[in-house]
Amino acid sequence: MVVLDSATTTSQPVPIRWVMRKSSDYNYDELAHIFNETRIDYIVPMPMNGRRMEDYVRDYDVDLRNSLIVTDPDGHPAGMGMIAFREQRAWLTRLGVVPHLRHHKLGHMLMTGLIERAYALFAKHIQLEVIVGNEPAKRLFHRHGFEGERELSILNRPPARLETQPADDIQVTALEGEALHLCLAEQRHTAPSWLDESASLLKSEDITGFSACHRDGSSGWVLFRKARFQMSHFAINVPPTYADAMLTALFHTIHKSYPSLDAKMENFPAAAPGMAALQKIGYIEVFRRIEMHRDLR
Ligand SMILES: CC(C)(COP(=O)(O)OP(=O)(O)OC[C@H]1O[C@@H](n2cnc3c(N)ncnc32)[C@H](O)[C@@H]1OP(=O)(O)O)[C@@H](O)C(=O)NCCC(=O)NCCS
Repeated sequence: MVVLDSATTTSQPVPIRWVMRKSSDYNYDELAHIFNETRIDYIVPMPMNGRRMEDYVRDYDVDLRNSLIVTDPDGHPAGMGMIAFREQRAWLTRLGVVPHLRHHKLGHMLMTGLIERAYALFAKHIQLEVIVGNEPAKRLFHRHGFEGERELSILNRPPARLETQPADDIQVTALEGEALHLCLAEQRHTAPSWLDESASLLKSEDITGFSACHRDGSSGWVLFRKARFQMSHFAINVPPTYADAMLTALFHTIHKSYPSLDAKMENFPAAAPGMAALQKIGYIEVFRRIEMHRDLR
């Protein structure tokens, strides 16, 4: 039980009995609405609608029966937190409390509830991401035992002229059908984040990609989702020694093939080789996230 100060005829605080409900009690439009209410003042605006919420839940294996909505006794939603599972790992996402009810331990309650669910479903590890500069959330996650590890960069590229010249010892080829699935079955040189793990891309039918082959036989690839106006959900696997050269060749071909499309790349590890090549090809960093982890024992 949390005690909230509220306007009353006496100066006594009014106790509120918060109710924890399953996210599966709500439809996608309602979930999107609750999410938007918790993020009205968020550092990076990311409004959702029902359809996008449904895609999000499917792509990232969100488990709605174990995800939480906290409400007041009248059923008004005050906050939410989602949990996704892959094998013995859990991922926490969409955590938020509506602005006027923050600082009343609802964030703590949601985190405790989600971690309990991870234990109950035999997860051995939990991960999450927090935007660099979101100190309240980072502090909350630290208090629940999460440690920051790598920084992930979110990059955008509007349609633009290509100034790069790819090396002629790297050959780029379009990938189709089974070849795309073979790429996704590979272990990558740099571990992907939850968003660009193969399991996230496999859910979608509009995946396309290109492979790069160096004269010495080394190879790499970039896969992505191509929609009408935008390329997104990039998954990348290039050998570190050729990262700059291969990414230059691959992205040169990608943007030459689809010159009018915007590109949105999420969670490229900021310290990974190849960042310089992406910047030269026109990618601009919009913000960064920190990936945080906690083992469950
Ligand atoms: C992060 C968030 C969920 C915290 O919810 P909350 O209900 O206000 O948090 P609580 O009252 O349970 O406090 C939990 C802890 O968060 C931290 N915290 C909360 N607000 C804070 C602030 N303004 N500054 C610093 N730390 C803060 C503290 O560590 C606090 O624990 P403590 O008081 O025991 O030290 C809330 O601020 C929020 O919804 N923010 C916008 C959405 C968001 O950032 N989501 C996370 C995305 S990764």
